[in-house]
Amino acid sequence: MTQNAQNVYTLRYPENSGFDETKIIFHKNSPDLNKFFFEENKTDARRLFVTDTTIAALPCMRTFTSSFKADAESHAGKTAETFTRGKDALIILGAGEKFKTIESVLSIVRTALEGNFNRNCIFTGIGGGVVCDMTGFAASMFKRGVLAEFVPTTLLADVDASVGGKTGCDFESYKNMIGAFYPAKNIHIWSSFIQTLPQNEFISGLAEAIKTAFLFSAELTELFLSQKDSVMKREQDVLDGIVEQCARAKAKIVSEDFREHGDRAFLNYGHTFGHALESVAGLGKVTHGEAVAWGMSRAVCVSLARGVCSKEFADKTLKTLALYGYETGAVHSALKNIPSEKTATLILNAMKKDKKNNSAKIRLTLQSGPQQTFVSEADDEEILSVLTEQE
Ligand SMILES: NC(=O)c1ccc[n+]([C@@H]2O[C@H](COP(=O)([O-])OP(=O)(O)OC[C@H]3O[C@@H](n4cnc5c(N)ncnc54)[C@H](O)[C@@H]3O)[C@@H](O)[C@H]2O)c1
Repeated sequence: MTQNAQNVYTLRYPENSGFDETKIIFHKNSPDLNKFFFEENKTDARRLFVTDTTIAALPCMRTFTSSFKADAESHAGKTAETFTRGKDALIILGAGEKFKTIESVLSIVRTALEGNFNRNCIFTGIGGGVVCDMTGFAASMFKRGVLAEFVPTTLLADVDASVGGKTGCDFESYKNMIGAFYPAKNIHIWSSFIQTLPQNEFISGLAEAIKTAFLFSAELTELFLSQKDSVMKREQDVLDGIVEQCARAKAKIVSEDFREHGDRAFLNYGHTFGHALESVAGLGKVTHGEAVAWGMSRAVCVSLARGVCSKEFADKTLKTLALYGYETGAVHSALKNIPSEKTATLILNAMKKDKKNNSAKIRLTLQSGPQQTFVSEADDEEILSVLTEQE
């Protein structure tokens, strides 16, 4: 197997996890998936490629997509289209979170079943977190498990969603309610896919990259502070560096704590406040990344109020977030339609409902300094105080 790759990271899973390893391959050339999958990475195994309508239409995907012929009768059902090329198949799903449904997952399974795919096949997800999560979930179910591989195409999927084995879909308006731990065998990252991302998706993914820097890398934290222009211009070598460092950092913590019993919870930094904001503001009012960035600003204010971090550290965290346009005030502007005396209580109540919160008190991921992270329970008063504008 030839690979036009410069760097490979092997993520090994714990012995009793039932999984072996994931190879993360960082490609530095431009993506030519036609050449990559049908010349350089040819395999006797049948591949079922899964993507969405937006990605299928990207200029860099055209040669790949147009090499498939549309099936006269789609196997997938109403929500997707299917295509064939020799032994392989392609299913194109609707784009975005609203298609992250069990129906879409089952349409992948149905396409494989009706195409007579056997247990040795590979499900290859080409897309953002939505496509990768659903492809992995479908792979975990089909014939009790076939190989999954991913080509992430968003910044969020590069640095977060494609790595770590969490797969699934939304259900009955609950996000990621059903799913499985089922890591991909290979993750092929071409961070140049990021160049065509809409700005809001880029900024959303960037928050997870900044989070990873805060958690694990002083060097990357400095880069975000000092090279804002290069980051915002999406200079390719800068993006390559950010993506590789973040994906490696996530892979390392996953290999140490695959089932999230310990330090993997650090990755939730900003998320408890962030999820609550997303839910109180209403779906789609604020992007996931913007919510997480605001959540990190609230978390560092909890640390400061407790006296576990210095003012200098809190200021630097807030400054980095503000530099990229994220809101860091006690009351997020997405809540401006709600009477100000109610916002803090609504956020607090939403935090109590978070599915990752198992105890009566709210568990928060906090930092006491650069790359010094811990998980701690917080009182209602502590939470409310960082959700209320101080006079
Ligand atoms: N499994 C995990 O560990 C994990 C972690 C974080 C997030 N997630 C999940 O990831 C999902 C969000 O992922 P996302 O932000 O990648 O969203 P997404 O997959 O919906 O992609 C965002 C939009 O960008 C489009 N797009 C994708 N690549 C593009 C490109 N290169 N150029 C132009 N447009 C492109 C997509 O078609 C979509 O419309 C959520 O469902 C979330 O639950 C999973």
